[in-house]
Amino acid sequence: MGETVSRKLEHVKLVASSKVESRESTLLDYVRLVHNPLPETDIDKVDLTTRFCGLEKKLKAPLVITGMTGGHRDVAWINEGLALVAEEFGIAMGVGSQRAAIEDPSVIESFSAARRAAPNIVLIANLGAPQLARGYGLREALKAIEMIDADAIAIHLNPGQEAFQDEGEPQYSGVISRIVDLASRLDKPVIVKEVGTGLSREAVAHLYSAGIKCFDVSGLGGTNWVKVEVLRSKVRNGAPLKPAGSMEDYWGNPTALAIVEARLAAPRAYIIGSGGIRNGLDAAKAIALGADSAGFALPALRVLVNSGVESLRRLVASIIYQVKTSVFLSGETRPTGLWRAPLVVWGRLREELELRGVDVDSYIKEFRLKTLMWRMRDYGEY
Ligand SMILES: Cc1cc2nc3c(=O)[nH]c(=O)nc-3n(C[C@H](O)[C@H](O)[C@H](O)COP(=O)(O)O)c2cc1C
Repeated sequence: MGETVSRKLEHVKLVASSKVESRESTLLDYVRLVHNPLPETDIDKVDLTTRFCGLEKKLKAPLVITGMTGGHRDVAWINEGLALVAEEFGIAMGVGSQRAAIEDPSVIESFSAARRAAPNIVLIANLGAPQLARGYGLREALKAIEMIDADAIAIHLNPGQEAFQDEGEPQYSGVISRIVDLASRLDKPVIVKEVGTGLSREAVAHLYSAGIKCFDVSGLGGTNWVKVEVLRSKVRNGAPLKPAGSMEDYWGNPTALAIVEARLAAPRAYIIGSGGIRNGLDAAKAIALGADSAGFALPALRVLVNSGVESLRRLVASIIYQVKTSVFLSGETRPTGLWRAPLVVWGRLREELELRGVDVDSYIKEFRLKTLMWRMRDYGEY
């Protein structure tokens, strides 16, 4: 079994059963949507359908099961289960890094199972930035897309994970131009995503000015790959080869912060707010802060692996209903209507944003509204 293939299986087993979330919070605790006791609309009038990264295909709810797995025949059923539920609810889904299938075509089926189970969803291919830096390009991206008939491709940034993985490849030199070059040659959207340590304002600004239009912030506060790799190393070697100390809990840009920074840096981009999103209220807060949709990974995997597809169905249905009620109880009828709904941001989140040069009040009252107007202009709807 190839190294990439066996690592993928170890990751799924560890993540499904161990403590792999950071102690640091998403900082979404410092966000409150103001309850509207007079919503002047009916819950049935709430319409959660939304565009995704400029594609014609729509989502029935602004949610994404972000990329996790594939690459071993024993995980094909996981991609199939996630895809079945994504298809049923009309939400988007990503597969995990397809490097394994590019190195070893015998595991293609573990990815393509997703498209077979979900012929209509927005399905997102996935490759890592380190592979781009080391020679992957248009050919591999097209292979990854074709393998699952993908609507878009995510390029993941995982320097923290690579730095603490036993056999990691923390080589990122030249990566920006490789991503930008790839995006300019592909006719499908490229989504630049983190994996749980969070995009920053500087990184998003750099990529946005070079033409990248879709981002998944994947901030700190949920699954933490420094922690996963340290744990994996401990299991393999008795003690971690590269101990992380408090970095496994506290290194990274928390999700709430990362969403605001990404929106400020890329006003007209499509932004997925993810990392530690665990229920519909978290998702609604992520959107209210400036994301277009919310993404989650770990909760879907855990529920599916430990309790089966029916439980995953219930989880997704409840998250969608919670998003719907959050929109209704904010007096709005569309998810991005939350961009104009009153919002309270206080404490550490406000302080950290201000220290990062954000005028929080004008962001909440003016910038979010401007974003809504741009969205109406760009998409003809909000
Ligand atoms: C088991 C597992 C495997 C993952 N593999 C990938 C991957 O191959 N590519 C990627 O871009 N992100 C990967 N991720 C990261 C997720 O897409 C997501 O960004 C991150 O887990 C934070 O979200 P969460 O807190 O909801 O889990 C993986 C996450 C999990 C839990």
